[in-house]
Amino acid sequence: MQAMHPDIERVLITEDEMRERVAQMGQAITRDYAGQEAGIIVVSVLRGAAIFMADLVREIHLPLEMDYMAISSYGSGVKSSGVLNVQKDVSSDIAGKHVIIAEDIIDSGLTLSKTIEHLRAMGPASVQVAALLHKNTSNQVEIDARYVGFEIEDEFVVGYGLDYAERYRNLPYLGVLKPAVYATVDGQ
Ligand code: XMP
Ligand code: MG
Repeated sequence: MQAMHPDIERVLITEDEMRERVAQMGQAITRDYAGQEAGIIVVSVLRGAAIFMADLVREIHLPLEMDYMAISSYGSGVKSSGVLNVQKDVSSDIAGKHVIIAEDIIDSGLTLSKTIEHLRAMGPASVQVAALLHKNTSNQVEIDARYVGFEIEDEFVVGYGLDYAERYRNLPYLGVLKPAVYATVDGQ
């Protein structure tokens, strides 16, 4: 295991814990979708979910397609605006397919509920959500995420795909930044 990054105050989820839980999620998906006639397409919401998606699909032992959406609702700061700005839509025709959205984190749930609406309008056979993290916050939109990796407290987290001002995505674990970092990194 690599040494902790100097900007990290606390590791919330280690690399090993992450691997084990993502494998369990993949097993659950494999079980639930085995024998389905319609194709499976895993859609990841860039950029935060890219690493989760890459690990998750390798634990799903069924034929599947991968596609990507880019959405902005956060900028590089820490608050969700709730406005869905689709910068890149799915490239495939998802009509009649089983869509699994791979999402990094459900915070207010606004981004995801809008994304689900957006994809449902394209006529897929089903839409389910696999979220690595679910934040325990008040003020949430009701999201029925079938697969959730970890429930976490309401604090800002980085690593394993998640950033602060586009940094720290490449840390293999999930951690909390030292408060001083927020004061020094330009959160623009
Ligand atoms: P909402 O509030 O719409 O926001 O559910 C979900 C999106 O916000 C980002 N997000 C975070 N990004 N650390 C991050 O790096 C966090 O703690 C965090 N909380 C929310 C993320 O992009 C997610 O898709
Ligand atoms: Mg971000």
